[in-house]
Amino acid sequence: MAAESDASDDSFESGEPTAVGVKLGSTRTVLKYPDVDGDLSTVRSLTCLATYEDAITGEERALFGERAAAEYPDRVEYMLRSGLPEDDERAELADRYFRELVDANKVPRDSTVVYAVPTMENDAGLENLTDVIESSPIGEVQMRSYPESLCGAVPALGDGVEAVNEVFIAVNMGSTNLEASAYRRGDQLVPFSTGSITGNDVDRRIVANVEEETQGRVHVDLTTAREYKEEHGDFEGFEPFSDVVQQPGGGSHEFTIEDSVQDALNWYLDAAVDAVANEFLPELANDFMKPYQLALSNDIALTGGMACIPGMTEEFERRLSEEIDREVDVVSPDDPDLAATEGAYRIAERLAGR
Ligand SMILES: Nc1ncnc2c1ncn2[C@@H]1O[C@H](COP(=O)(O)OP(=O)(O)OP(=O)(O)O)[C@@H](O)[C@H]1O
Ligand SMILES: [Mg+2]
Repeated sequence: MAAESDASDDSFESGEPTAVGVKLGSTRTVLKYPDVDGDLSTVRSLTCLATYEDAITGEERALFGERAAAEYPDRVEYMLRSGLPEDDERAELADRYFRELVDANKVPRDSTVVYAVPTMENDAGLENLTDVIESSPIGEVQMRSYPESLCGAVPALGDGVEAVNEVFIAVNMGSTNLEASAYRRGDQLVPFSTGSITGNDVDRRIVANVEEETQGRVHVDLTTAREYKEEHGDFEGFEPFSDVVQQPGGGSHEFTIEDSVQDALNWYLDAAVDAVANEFLPELANDFMKPYQLALSNDIALTGGMACIPGMTEEFERRLSEEIDREVDVVSPDDPDLAATEGAYRIAERLAGR
């Protein structure tokens, strides 16, 4: 939980509405807002909820985020698992989750809120997400939503909201979704998204690779695979690492991982480059030839949690340049997993009149 102080934030004295940035992600929800002292805080929470019965009153109560995941692994619900609330039940769970989250963190209700939302061809899901956003207690002054990849590109391309006035391409690498879009002064052109090149796919491949690399002796779960990826994945200087598993019937088995993690990451990166180079870019060139040329001469913004893997940005730039036979520049913001929220926050500040 990172909290940064910003002495210049004087929304409470000036009477200007407070700006809030929100990304409702399938794995993590991230908020940025000024807390009760006016200090800026960034909160990351697992997007999950568990309900239980109060042992004394018998009333139904809810726990959310890390505590729900740790205490009720047997029945915790990740209601945005596919990226959007798919049905009424999940929409209601998402609504409840978000209320609990903003109440627990005392996010100001009297606020201008910008939501970063995923680009997906799922109208029912998007409508459900809109309902969740509109019925939330925050954003009494104003509420807007912008595509997640546009919000993420904002901190990648400048210190303010310069990206909103440029022509560029943004690629967002999430846990359930890979998204590529071009933007022309904030307008989204040729949105492309796929659910088959994702951070979750990398985790599944790591599970299978570990089993193969250890000749069937070791079976890790998806959470462990994700931790291997996040802690050891590295396109610049991957180092083999060891881990230990307890064996049924006693004793432990130590094993070393040489290839399982990087093989999965190389599959991911090649698939992502292939989709951008051979599906998204040809469509953009076909529909918007001049903006396509302009966008390729500008920086390409690469964001989302998977862009946190060391060397991902440089390697994406190298492989994409090779694939399209043209030198392109790819940039990522400081914290690619928090970038969509940071961009949403900056846009909210601008809307609030700063
Ligand atoms: N250092 C890291 N920090 C956070 N996530 C990381 C890191 N390294 C890799 N990842 C991966 O990035 C993915 C999460 O990305 P992100 O937070 O952008 O997803 P999301 O917005 O919740 O998902 P989606 O956009 O698919 O709805 C996960 O697969 C996660 O394991
Ligand atoms: Mg995302």
